[in-house]
Amino acid sequence: MLVKSLELNFFRNIGTTRNEFLDGVNVFYGKNGAGKTNLLEAVFVLLLARSPRGVSDTVMLQENAEYYRLKGTVEISGKAHELTVAYQTGGRKKITIDKINSRTSELFELCTAVSTAPEDIELLSGPPSKRREFVNIYLSQASKKYIADLVDYQRVLAQKNAYLRQENNAAETPYDDLLIKYGSVIMLSRREFLDKVASTAAENYARISGGQGFDLHYKPSVRIENDDWSMGNIEDIFASKLRRYRERERIMQTSMVGPHRDEVEFVIRALPARSHGSQGELRTAAVSLKLAVFEYLKKIRGIKPVLLLDEIFAELDPGRKEMLVELFGDFGQIFLTSASEIPETLNSRVRRFKIENGAVFPE
Ligand SMILES: Nc1ncnc2c1ncn2[C@@H]1O[C@H](COP(=O)(O)OP(=O)(O)OP(=O)(O)O)[C@@H](O)[C@H]1O
Ligand SMILES: [Mg+2]
Repeated sequence: MLVKSLELNFFRNIGTTRNEFLDGVNVFYGKNGAGKTNLLEAVFVLLLARSPRGVSDTVMLQENAEYYRLKGTVEISGKAHELTVAYQTGGRKKITIDKINSRTSELFELCTAVSTAPEDIELLSGPPSKRREFVNIYLSQASKKYIADLVDYQRVLAQKNAYLRQENNAAETPYDDLLIKYGSVIMLSRREFLDKVASTAAENYARISGGQGFDLHYKPSVRIENDDWSMGNIEDIFASKLRRYRERERIMQTSMVGPHRDEVEFVIRALPARSHGSQGELRTAAVSLKLAVFEYLKKIRGIKPVLLLDEIFAELDPGRKEMLVELFGDFGQIFLTSASEIPETLNSRVRRFKIENGAVFPE
């Protein structure tokens, strides 16, 4: 899919601007703090109504402004659509697709985008919530059903937690059956997604690093030790772990078993990435992972996601940079930022935009 044009109002430090983009590599360059990352974020928000950095609308709203508004034209399978995503202080986010008020899930169904940025290192070395956030945002682009399951699960989880916080509650909560029902399908979806992404990510890593090993493993809160991923077995194991934790949950007054406690383990050169990975290795792993997600979404959706690469060349050695640029040929539309030189091999296939103090100057 393509982002043909984007108009911004009061988004972060970007002044009102409208730009047309290339079906190829669009490069935002300029000094530190100019607004390059903000522009990339705006493209992502236009397509999926949420920040790739996981921040709220109030953070993206320009200082002292009352609203932000993004309006763009996208092209999907040859068909043009007009999208707007707007947020008003104190109000709700408003999304339109072809002038019709729409939900975030409808945007997820229509558009697809993959983003990678320096803070992706957190995805590998930060808290488990970062990894769950990653799975949710990308798996949601692949499966409408996953979005619905997640909404159902989170609703039941909130109800169960509210119940556990009450004084004198009974040991058995009335919510566990539904928690097991929705939680089990979420686990199965996550396992399928991560299994598929793992092998491509390992290939990408080996290619970029010149043959080194990278792997990832889904570590659900409910461990399926006998590797029997039939729905009946997942539900049985889930139920028995809930029974074992019942008293602990009552004392802690919070729900301790289920996909909201899932973990994903990353392994670089046979060592846990979280504790042992170097900066460059973590960055390479994050990029390899995101490019694998790109491949996965491309296959499932039948269209190429828009690819957003924030400072992708920083921290990579020259060999790794060149290998990465070689991979670019397989992608569709790319937006990338750079505060420094971009590799020469890329120069022939790009449209450059100079960013200065929140203003955009196309070349
Ligand atoms: N909500 C906001 N309102 C106004 N300005 C903001 C807002 N959020 C961020 N900024 C400003 O945007 C600037 C940062 O922009 P951005 O992160 O896009 O820079 P960059 O060009 O990517 O820089 P770098 O090369 O350092 O990555 C900062 O100066 C910050 O103060
Ligand atoms: Mg930046």
